[in-house]
Amino acid sequence: MRFRSISSAPNTRQADKWFDSDLAFHRLYPVDIQMLARRHWTPLHIARLASQFLAQHSRARILDIGSGAGKFCLASAYYKPQAQFTGVEQRIHLVDIAESAKGILDLNNLEFVHGNFTQIDFRSFNAFYFYNSFYENLIREDRIDESIDYSSELYHYYCRFLFQKLEEMQPGTRLVTYHSLEDEIPPSYELKETHAEGLLKCWEKK
Ligand SMILES: C[S@@+](CC[C@H](N)C(=O)[O-])C[C@H]1O[C@@H](n2cnc3c(N)ncnc32)[C@H](O)[C@@H]1O
Repeated sequence: MRFRSISSAPNTRQADKWFDSDLAFHRLYPVDIQMLARRHWTPLHIARLASQFLAQHSRARILDIGSGAGKFCLASAYYKPQAQFTGVEQRIHLVDIAESAKGILDLNNLEFVHGNFTQIDFRSFNAFYFYNSFYENLIREDRIDESIDYSSELYHYYCRFLFQKLEEMQPGTRLVTYHSLEDEIPPSYELKETHAEGLLKCWEKK
């Protein structure tokens, strides 16, 4: 006779209900932040695909460059509990919102840092996620708010800076871009996979 062990019972985590849909997830946020979601925060199915590629082993340390309200990091930390995620975000109020969502979800494999990505030590990471964070410098309709200065010079400066940082990384470094114009991607990164009709691209440094 065979017995079912207790450990074979379904593993329902406290956070599960928030990941039923994007709509459910957005209820973690205040209404004004929910309103920005369609244009600015990574959809759950995209975070699942991206984290699948980025968190290839248990030593994966992933940086989200411009983490906003934290959706990519929160979702990826939930999908990939063995990997470590860090989000860096220039807007302090978005960092606060991400922190409060992290508290509700009770996830412990992620952190949020307030600051400019140019202040981050890239050598602490072996994988990167980039959702076209500098684009708001080019397109007025893409601005999240009026709390910062925008310019096309800043867009080009940030792209050059990120390009250089990615170029300095070790072979095998992984990168996922979503909606990118690819100005920040060095030619040493090889395209490995594309999804979402080409909007999501998975790269690896040669
Ligand atoms: C399109 S949102 C993506 C948010 C998040 N990665 C996600 O997918 O849910 C881009 C974010 O990058 C941030 N950002 C833009 N330039 C930045 C910089 N130089 N340093 C840090 N954050 C930046 C913006 O404030 C914005 O919140």
